[in-house]
Amino acid sequence: MIDIAIRNAQVLDGTGAAAITADIGIEGDKIAIVGEVGAAKQDIDAKGLHLAPGLIDTHSHDDGAFFRHPGMEFKLAQGVTTVVAGNCGFSAIPADPNVNAAKSSGGILAGVDGEFTDLNGYFEAVVAHNPAINNMMLVGHNTIRTMVMGFDKRSPNAQELQQMKDHVRTNLDQGACGFSTGLIYRPGRWSDTDEVIQLASEARAYDALYATHMRNEGDHLLDAVEETLTIGREANVHAHISHHKSAGAQNWGKIPESLAKVDAALAAGQRVTLDVYPYTAGSGRMVEYFNLDNISRSFAEVVRIASCPAFREYEGKMVKDIATAEAVDITEIVKKILTAPKGDRTLCIHFIIDEKDVETNLAYRDMMIGSDGIPDLTGKPHPRLFGTFPKVLGHYVRERGILSLPEAIRRMTSLSAQTFGMQHRGQIKEGYFADLVMFDPTSIIDTATYDDPKQEPKGIEMVFVNGQVALNAGQHTGVGTGQMLRYRR
Ligand code: ZN
Ligand code: CU
Repeated sequence: MIDIAIRNAQVLDGTGAAAITADIGIEGDKIAIVGEVGAAKQDIDAKGLHLAPGLIDTHSHDDGAFFRHPGMEFKLAQGVTTVVAGNCGFSAIPADPNVNAAKSSGGILAGVDGEFTDLNGYFEAVVAHNPAINNMMLVGHNTIRTMVMGFDKRSPNAQELQQMKDHVRTNLDQGACGFSTGLIYRPGRWSDTDEVIQLASEARAYDALYATHMRNEGDHLLDAVEETLTIGREANVHAHISHHKSAGAQNWGKIPESLAKVDAALAAGQRVTLDVYPYTAGSGRMVEYFNLDNISRSFAEVVRIASCPAFREYEGKMVKDIATAEAVDITEIVKKILTAPKGDRTLCIHFIIDEKDVETNLAYRDMMIGSDGIPDLTGKPHPRLFGTFPKVLGHYVRERGILSLPEAIRRMTSLSAQTFGMQHRGQIKEGYFADLVMFDPTSIIDTATYDDPKQEPKGIEMVFVNGQVALNAGQHTGVGTGQMLRYRR
């Protein structure tokens, strides 16, 4: 007998097809039947609700969250059942057990814990924590470069380059889905295009991805897109542009031009994909955005403090408001925060994106969704950590009509699964893994705000991960059935 029957659901299968009324039968961790299901051990009535494949977050920084928050509540509550971690060049693997990963990544990898050195070891360590959702990994340039060259501001010598290549290959061989860079960050910013081409070339043999937080997302966005396309072409790999945006008011409106470059590359036969988060603010390590010798006043004006170990009282406040309250110059506050002990661990939120560019991105065919959430639950994280997917489905699909519901679901499921090599996931189809989200499209919405960011969204009724109920009417069941995924295996 079938284990679970979900009856009378409006099924969006993830291919972009319109919803059809059907029953789904789950047996073990798989979808056994789509259509009519006979007697089952457990019946779930989904009348009036939509059922879609579990959502895939193509851009996460959850490497350490799998240890610190294995329940992954902030993802599960959005209907997300799989993430891609290891983004922006920061990945839990490879690792040196003698190096504090959190420290060398400035907090992006906070929580990463264990004696592992490679993907196999990391996966083993994560599985021991019974993670709530599935994880696919990228292997990150910043992590590798730090291991091999520390923070040296120079090109690698032949031996160092070989060592870095070996790290990339080892982890791809174990099942990472690609190589990631974060070329605005240290030490990635000290690499030249050729170094990245050399390392990305390692992905060729696996037909894996090159995923990038580009060297520039503002004044030199178009040059950075060119560099990305060059790297993809020269390395002959699929290039994926992470969190596509045009930062800074003087650059607003450049998104169509940037997408035109991608279109031209696609027309020429290159493989290029992108993702975006549905917010007008970015977030990251504050130290990366300022030059302490010449602090940008205009940038400081749009910065808000997310988490700040040195000054907890600043969390949730705009830097300009802190400056007013303390009656000092805004640049002094920036200096005070960044030069304090643990000041380099400060995470900030910066309002740098135009809403119209967000909508242009979301309207672009094949644009995937990645939260870029940084899972530091102290302070006031960017609301994208809790709200990304319901915001797209509630605000941009239902309220704004930027894209249709079946299309949005396709880009959050089958397209992402296919792009990032997740086998038998991303569709509601017989034989596929039973990662499912049951939701109400008329009420789904994010509730996380900048002032109150740790709020779970509304309208998600039930989430299944590998055939087990992980979330039911707002209750996290704690079954911990997430799997560690290997590229195209
Ligand atoms: Zn990034
Ligand atoms: Cu990122």
